[in-house]
Amino acid sequence: TDPALIRNFCIIAHIDHGKSTLADRMLQITGVVDDRSMRAQYLDRMDIERERGITIKSQAVRLPWDGHVLNMIDTPGHVDFTYEVSRSLQACEGAVLLVDAAQGIEAQTLANLYLAMNADLHIIPVLNKIDLPAAQPEKFADELAGLIGCDPSDVLRVSGKTGVGVRELLDHVVQTVPAPVGNADAPARALIFDSVYDTYRGVVTYLRVIDGHLGKRERILMMSTKAAHETLEIGVISPEPKPSDLGLGVGEVGYLISGVKDVRQSRVGDTVTTVVKPAEEMLAGYDHPRPMVFSGLYPIDGDEYPELREALDKLQLNDASLIYEPETSAALGFGFRVGFLGLLHMEIIRERLEREFGLSLISTAPNVVYRVVMEDGSELTVTNPSEFPTGGKIAQVFEPVTKSTILAPAEFIGAIMEICQGRRGQLLGMDYLSEDRVEIRYTLPLGEIIFDFFDQLKSRTRGYASLDYEPAGEEESDLVKVDILLQGEAVDAFSAIVHKDKAYTYGVDMAKKLRELIPRQQFEVPIQAAIGARVIARENIRAIRKDVLAKCYGGDISRKRKLLEKQKEGKKRMKMVGRVEVPQEAFVAALSTD
Ligand code: GTP
Repeated sequence: TDPALIRNFCIIAHIDHGKSTLADRMLQITGVVDDRSMRAQYLDRMDIERERGITIKSQAVRLPWDGHVLNMIDTPGHVDFTYEVSRSLQACEGAVLLVDAAQGIEAQTLANLYLAMNADLHIIPVLNKIDLPAAQPEKFADELAGLIGCDPSDVLRVSGKTGVGVRELLDHVVQTVPAPVGNADAPARALIFDSVYDTYRGVVTYLRVIDGHLGKRERILMMSTKAAHETLEIGVISPEPKPSDLGLGVGEVGYLISGVKDVRQSRVGDTVTTVVKPAEEMLAGYDHPRPMVFSGLYPIDGDEYPELREALDKLQLNDASLIYEPETSAALGFGFRVGFLGLLHMEIIRERLEREFGLSLISTAPNVVYRVVMEDGSELTVTNPSEFPTGGKIAQVFEPVTKSTILAPAEFIGAIMEICQGRRGQLLGMDYLSEDRVEIRYTLPLGEIIFDFFDQLKSRTRGYASLDYEPAGEEESDLVKVDILLQGEAVDAFSAIVHKDKAYTYGVDMAKKLRELIPRQQFEVPIQAAIGARVIARENIRAIRKDVLAKCYGGDISRKRKLLEKQKEGKKRMKMVGRVEVPQEAFVAALSTD
């Protein structure tokens, strides 16, 4: 295709502002999916049955429109995946900024807009859901125009549901989004913006050609790893993959399959070139996304450890950002320390492990990565609280901080500031987007955000606040490790790194919780919370004499045996901490966040 006839664009929006529904209408109106095979959220293919075929998540669709080729590139919407969003944006020249006409601008609207502006994209502001009785297109067109600096009359109005305005939007894309420019004679350079593992075909790589040409049956080179592969299939997606004999040229968007079995061999952000005529420089900005949140994952049934390892290995084939290493906990047995991009990523992985691999897991409370500088100048990186050094030789502790943006109706400013202040936030600034809507910016420690911050924010603002955050380096902080001891023995799974001012509350809460969760034993069990050798909280579990046989008044021997058997069974699900028997459920309950 002549690059002059190509338009590459994405749709960016806050969650639920209607991205998928609008995409559905575009597929239908351009005739790519006929009315008969249309189903809602056509491109959302994440549910289990669809996870098998090659068409798992159609990350880019080619739409014919008015003699042109439109490539619509899908972007994941959540903060955890910002890196992937920014790579998708770099495959486009334009972005449709979609805003719910009944809701207005939200935190992810802003975050995505800034990413798109950084990528120099042409922005098309669009209000969606104008069919809703509650829509206020005038008000929000003003808000949107103020934000991007255009005239309110330039804001398009559509309904993804009824289809109103969608044709005009497609025309507008053709007229205003710049055609891709690239050098057709230069060595090939293509940007990988997504990479998906398929059980039958191996890794499917989604890419955008910047310069040159990629053909079928060509030796290709991944520029970051220098690994060479052979292209087995190359083509476009419309809406299913269609192999192309011509390959892909400048500005084109499509997929390739080279038989690699692991997405780490074909990473998002990497540049593909050819072996015969390799490019000299890779495309800018390639980055390994770094895990920000860590948690220990342990099988509830210790025998399932090999299955857990296998499941993680499999998930990693499809998720280059997932990292893990074996770890042993005195309390929980054999498991893994797993690094995630953020809380959502963590929830997804955990859910997939349980749902797709049938595992039952205990996960330890999530924590961030700390950098500890010792007095002798040595440094260590702590991803597991129980490895935090104890003793007086720590000089400094650094924790990751974020720049967080909260959008909410102005009436909630007080509540929001209270929450942020309570979590060691530093106010960076505040702006009114309209007379009743504010944007509040804070520097907040990531460690505070991953601890039910969003839930609290939602409940204190009756669900009206939205949040977005981005990493903003690290800051020194007064952090200590609080250990929880049963009968004088520290339980590694309960150790936490908290701010000095919160250590006492953490210790008291945890000790209370455990007193209720751990059954009485034959002897008294003290529960202590301690910082180093200093005890900051204490509870006691009083002793009982547990005599199950006393319940069976004499005679029935088989009944007695049954009870003994049962007690043995129960014991299997007990973990020993020193001499103390702790039921599995106590760990699960104590480690759950609520
Ligand atoms: P995520 O994929 O979760 O980010 O959401 P999304 O932005 O893709 O939104 P989706 O298309 O799933 O729409 C969210 C909700 O809004 C759904 O219940 C849709 O039915 C509804 N919706 C989307 N577009 C319109 C519209 O134009 N009018 C009305 N009335 N409802 C709409």
